Amino acid sequence: MANTILVGAQWGDEGKGKIIDVLTEGADIVVRYAGGNNAGHTVFIGKRKYVLHLVPSGILRKNKLCVIGNGVVVDPIGLVEEIEGLKKLGVNVNPKNFVLSETAHVVFPYHRELDAQREVLKGENKIGTTKRGIGPAYGDKAARVGLRVNDLVDPARLEEKLSVRIRENNIVLKSLGAKPLSFKKVFAEYLAAGKFLKPFVTNTVVLLHEAMRRGDNLLFEGAQGTFLDIDHGTYPFVTSSNTTAGGACTGSGVPPHRMDRVVGVMKAYTTRVGEGPLPTENAEIADMLHAMGREFGATTGRARRCGWFDSVATRHATMVNGIDDLAVTNLDGLDTLEIVKVCVAYRHGKTRYDFVPNDAQILAECEPVYIEFDGWRTPTSKAKTWKQLPPKARAYLKAIAELTGAKLAIASIGPAREQTIFV
Ligand code: IMP
Repeated sequence: MANTILVGAQWGDEGKGKIIDVLTEGADIVVRYAGGNNAGHTVFIGKRKYVLHLVPSGILRKNKLCVIGNGVVVDPIGLVEEIEGLKKLGVNVNPKNFVLSETAHVVFPYHRELDAQREVLKGENKIGTTKRGIGPAYGDKAARVGLRVNDLVDPARLEEKLSVRIRENNIVLKSLGAKPLSFKKVFAEYLAAGKFLKPFVTNTVVLLHEAMRRGDNLLFEGAQGTFLDIDHGTYPFVTSSNTTAGGACTGSGVPPHRMDRVVGVMKAYTTRVGEGPLPTENAEIADMLHAMGREFGATTGRARRCGWFDSVATRHATMVNGIDDLAVTNLDGLDTLEIVKVCVAYRHGKTRYDFVPNDAQILAECEPVYIEFDGWRTPTSKAKTWKQLPPKARAYLKAIAELTGAKLAIASIGPAREQTIFV
């Protein structure tokens, strides 16, 4: 399989968790490189549902090493809960199958509080964050005042650095009308979490390079999606990390020339949670999908905004990520439609865009230009092979892959591992 980066080609929630789980079969190591517990990767094994936020979904397979890389921001309380939760479900998490980078940054309660307070201050212009403290944690990292995992697991250093950070953040929180935090309480909680996590903590950069020298195959598990990338997304309605393929290098310490393949995951339609432009948004599609019980966020439970497939966006994603292969998920969500639309360009006044304009304001005002496909009006979720898919569904898949500019490799027609068609 060589070294593969898997990214979301839309606004997150593309069904990456399932595709990662499928691809993990051929990998030795699965690496998370960006984001934090704002992510929610849902994996079904048999009837059992697993929702993972920080731990790579490779944990659900035997003999795979899961790595949280340096580019991730880690809420240690959330991580401990997740590990305990997995243990309750019978998934054994130990330092042989899970490791955590010493230099990943730590999310503290003041990050979460600030995240919430800033959203309130923004009022109508709020981002619609997951309120997990992601933006403020990456902000501290860039401002060089963050604490890293190696601070968390050293009690004396944690005490010293945390007391300074709480003092400063309490001034800000009080001025925003929020309750100040108790150093004693936060310190006690984080001390305990640090103690729990210490056995998992290591130099993941050295570990990954040693693994590559042995010939191990690495799978980089992207979180969120291309248009939530801090540089390439619909700023400011983005998350605070590089979710795109380049982030896999900086967020893990594995250099670009060691990456062999980029897989882009996209839904057969488009969804987004939170605020910000979504050119193909469509109320009817949203109602239909929500009525089917689909498209509710794995992390916050929020109903996702939904729309037609946007090939302008996915083509742009192919460009910035260098996507080679495509995995198209949720095809079965469109099974009942008579007509299926695909956006092929945007119109803004007299200007036609074949790429995603950088200005979120302009993007919000863009009108999609659609082409139409005949719906297949046949259930697809039981198909086992490409040939078993209805011809019109195959035509649709081929067309959206061609418009996106990458090779169709996988079609997913349901949440189960078996509902995966290799093209
Ligand atoms: P934050 O990452 O919590 O700061 O949220 C910033 C934006 O990214 C909001 O619009 C969130 O809804 C969105 N977002 C963050 N994580 C995910 C995810 O895993 N899936 C989909 N959207 C996400």
